[in-house]
Order: sequence, then C-alpha cells, then structure tokens
Amino acid sequence: MIRMKYTHFQCKIAEVIQESDVTRSFLLDTSKNLEVSPGQFVMVWVPGKSEKNIPLSYAAPFEQRVGFTIKKKAPAPSICEICNSCGVCEEIFDMKIGDTIRIRGPYGNGFTIQGKNLLMFGHETRAAPLVFLAEKAREMSRKVTFIVAAPTENRLPFIQRLKDSDIEVLSLTEKELVKDPMSTEEMVDEFIEKKSVVDAAYLSAPERISKPLLDVLGKHNIPTQVMVERHIHCGVGICGECVIDPTGWRACVEGPVFSDVSLRDSEFGKYRRHSLKKSEIQKGQK
Ligand code: FES
Repeated sequence: MIRMKYTHFQCKIAEVIQESDVTRSFLLDTSKNLEVSPGQFVMVWVPGKSEKNIPLSYAAPFEQRVGFTIKKKAPAPSICEICNSCGVCEEIFDMKIGDTIRIRGPYGNGFTIQGKNLLMFGHETRAAPLVFLAEKAREMSRKVTFIVAAPTENRLPFIQRLKDSDIEVLSLTEKELVKDPMSTEEMVDEFIEKKSVVDAAYLSAPERISKPLLDVLGKHNIPTQVMVERHIHCGVGICGECVIDPTGWRACVEGPVFSDVSLRDSEFGKYRRHSLKKSEIQKGQK
C-alpha cells in the first residue's frame, strides 16, 4: 500500500478526448482501485523529461480509470506559469491510445460539496478539476451553474460535457471582455445579484482572476473553495517548496484546495515561491 502511494506505476492510455482546440484529456487504465476525489492530483513522470503534478479531471473507479486534462503549450510565458519548461505536457499531448504513462498518487486535499446551489468558475484547462466536481455534485442532486472562461471561443473546454450532466453553463471569453468594459468580477457580481441563492462557490483560475473573484464572493458572504497552484516538487509534504505564507500550509498536502477563510491575509494573489524557494511577484500569468 505504501509502495503504491509513493512510487510510480504504469498506466495505459485508454481514451483521448479533444476538449477544445488546444486541450486534450487522457483517460488511463490504472489496473488499481484508486480512491480519488475532485481537486486531488497525480504526479506524472515522463522519463527523460521531468515529473509534474496534474489535477484529475475524470474518475471511473469501477473501470479502474482516472484521467487528466492538459494543454500542449501556450505562447510564452506558458499555460503553466509555475513550471513552464518541464516538457511533460508537450510530450504527453501527442500520445495515443495504448501508449503508457507513469504516475504516482493521488495526492492532496480536494473540494468539499456544500449546500444545494453551487457556482463554479473555471478558466480554460484549470476548469478540469471543477468539471469532475460538478459531475459529482450532480450525482448528489445539487444544482450547479458553471462559468467556463478562456482567452478565445475555440479554447473553451468541457462545454458539451457539462451540458450532458444537466449543468447550467455560461461561457466567457477574454475577447468578449475586451469589447465589454465590465471586468470578470463585475460580471460575476451582477450574476450573483440576479441569482436568488448561491450556497457555495468554487474557483480554479489564474490568481489574477481568482483573487478579485474571491473578494466579490466574500462581499456576498458566499463560502468559497479555491484551487491554489504552487510549485509542486515532492508532492507529499517533505520538500517545503509549495508552502504558503504565513501559515506554512503545504499546497500538496493541506491543499491544493483551500477555503476562503484559510486564504485570508495570506500570500494568495500577491506572490508565490518558485522552484528555488524564493518569493516572486505574480505576473504574466496566462
Ligand atoms: S511539493 Fe514538497 S512539500 Fe509540497
């Protein structure tokens, strides 16, 4: 059991799904009964390249399958501002059914479903763990409204998958926001004003977007859970590269999902550590 948790095991790619023009999901046959929850991640190892944490976007335990969603590569500074040169996603992106991938995990603390009327906001590939969560919430008969955001329309993922689960979907492109003087947080603010009830909200987006959204949701007293991205090295709480000031909580163990309360007065939205454990101002996120 311990061995399974900390060492890689080989999985075969069972299905590849094109989620948008630039995003693909890879469903893996694990040959194991993995217990996973939305918000948890696996460490994916590509020999000769590197190892990278990727949140899970699918799970079918009876079929012994899990899946994740990636983007090949975005224009600089990259889709993955935490680790923009590891080459793992680029290598996996063109893999086919039957190819093998090595993973370890799952790790981390995932989302908790609270209340009956849920609002989710996911930005492009980062929407993946929330789509997994939204499907779980629907299985529990919760009402879900899902805002999917992306830079352009051809990069909006998961729209049909969400509709198939009877989820109310609103899409938002940054191109539209350029035309419309309203900011994302103003649009969400207006949406909440119009909605009679939102019991809980869930965010997975770059911090330049999720921090102002968190503030708007706080103004409406809506309990919110946020997927926080930090540089993940060991993934199991030992190296300390993913710690968050001032609590020292580790994104890989206590997170990557944190509540609004635990992020209050933290570094979230201000700065983060890169792989050399130095703090840096967050900028240039895609
Ligand atoms: S990545 Fe090593 S402690 Fe979190």
